[in-house]
Amino acid sequence: MDYFNYKDNELYAEDVKVSSLVKEYGTPLYVYSKATLQRHMRSFEEACSSHKHLICYAVKANSSLSILSLMAKMGAGFDIVSKGELLRVLEAGGDPKKVVFSGVGKTDDEIAFALKTGINCLNVESEAEAYNIENIARDLGIKAKIAIRVNPNVDAKTHPSISTGLKNNKFGISYDKAFDVYKKLSQSPYIQISGIDCHIGSQMTSGQPIVDAVARLLELYHKLKDNGINIDHIDIGGGLGVTYGDETPPSPSEFMSAVIALLKDIDVAIYIEPGRAMVANAGILLTQVLYTKQNGDKNFCIVDAGMNDLIRPALYNSWMNIIEANKKTGPKLCYDVVGPVCESDDFLGKDRHLCVERGDILAVRGAGAYGSAMSSTYNSRALCAEVMVSGDKSCVIRKRQDLKEIFANEVIVDL
Ligand code: LLP
Repeated sequence: MDYFNYKDNELYAEDVKVSSLVKEYGTPLYVYSKATLQRHMRSFEEACSSHKHLICYAVKANSSLSILSLMAKMGAGFDIVSKGELLRVLEAGGDPKKVVFSGVGKTDDEIAFALKTGINCLNVESEAEAYNIENIARDLGIKAKIAIRVNPNVDAKTHPSISTGLKNNKFGISYDKAFDVYKKLSQSPYIQISGIDCHIGSQMTSGQPIVDAVARLLELYHKLKDNGINIDHIDIGGGLGVTYGDETPPSPSEFMSAVIALLKDIDVAIYIEPGRAMVANAGILLTQVLYTKQNGDKNFCIVDAGMNDLIRPALYNSWMNIIEANKKTGPKLCYDVVGPVCESDDFLGKDRHLCVERGDILAVRGAGAYGSAMSSTYNSRALCAEVMVSGDKSCVIRKRQDLKEIFANEVIVDL
C-alpha cells in the first residue's frame, strides 16, 4: 500500500498532483512519499516487536540523505556496504552503534574507518577478510565486533542476478566452513564475536527460503553455544520482495512471524536489513513523453528518462508498472516505452497499453528502490532531481545536477 493514487483521473503523490510537481521541478523527477516510507518502517517495527530486534535499513536501495534521516528519526539502524554509505548515514544523523557493514570487498581504509567510528558490527564475508580485520583492529588497539556472513546454500528463488545465498555465489563463508572460522576467531584478543549473518537474495516473494536459511543459522548458533561461543544477534539480511506487477509477497509481519517463531526461545536479537520493501513503493519516477513513432510493427513512446536514470528494466529485464499521470479516455496503443540513451536496451517498459501524446507525463511505479541509487550520468545526462512529498507539501531533496558538474572533476591534458 502506498500513497500514489488517482483522483478524478489525475495521479497524486499524497495530496499533491504529480502534474504540478512536474511544472515546478521538471522531468525526469523522482518523487517519494513520506507517509509511505513511515508506514513501511512502522510495519517492520510492528512485525519485529515481539522479539529483541534491530532494523538496519539497507542504504544501497536508496541512499538519499533525507530518506536516511527519516529512517534514523524513526529509530532505524543501517546496513552499509561502503565508507561512502557510512558517511551518508553519519551526515543524516544515523547512530553508528546501529550500523552493520556488509560487502565482500571492504578495503583497509573502510575497515579502519568503520572501527574508529564505532559501528555495531562488521559482517565478515571471507576468512581472509576476518584476518585483515583482526590486523587492523590490533593496529588501532580496538576490539572489532564481527558476525560471519554464512552462505547457507539456500535458493532464494529469485532472479539469478539478485540471488546471493547459493554455494557458488561470491557472498559469505560457506556453511560447512563457518564453524571452524568462528572457532579460530574466538581465540583472537582483537575480535569480539557478535553475530551470525546471512543474506540470501532480493525480491523474494515467499518467506520459505528465509525460514530454511534461518533454520541453518539456528543449528550453527547451537553448535557455537555448545562450544562456548556466544553471540548476541542473528542477522537475517534483507530480501523481502514487493509488488511490481502481480507478485504477492508476504507482508513484513507474515515474513517475520515465521522467523521469530524459529528464534523465539533463544536470547539473541534479530537483525534485519530490508531495502527494497522499505522504499520501492514509496517512490515513482516521472518522465515526459518527447515523441511517439512507429518503426516496423512497433510503436515507440520516447520519454525523457533513460536507463541512466532507472536501469532495472535494462539490466534485469525487470517489469515495472508505467502509468499515465493523467488518465485519458482515448484509444490505447501498445508501446515500447524507451529512453533517449543510445542503446537498444534503453527501455523502461515493453508492450505497454497507453493513450499518450507528446508532453504527457508517465510515472514508473516502484522506483524508490534501486532507482536513483543506481543511476549514472551515461551519455552525459544529469542525475535527476528528487522530491519528497508530505501531505500537500513538496520539497527538493536532491537538486537536478548541473550539466557542467558532470565533468567538473576532469582535466584536459596534452601529454
Ligand atoms: N543486505 C545485504 C547484504 C544485501 O546485499 C542487500 C541487497 C540487502 C540487505 C537489501 O536487500 P533488499 O531488502 O533490498 O532485497 N539492484 C537490485 C537489487 C540488488 C540487491 C543487492 N543486495 C535490483 O534492483 O533488483
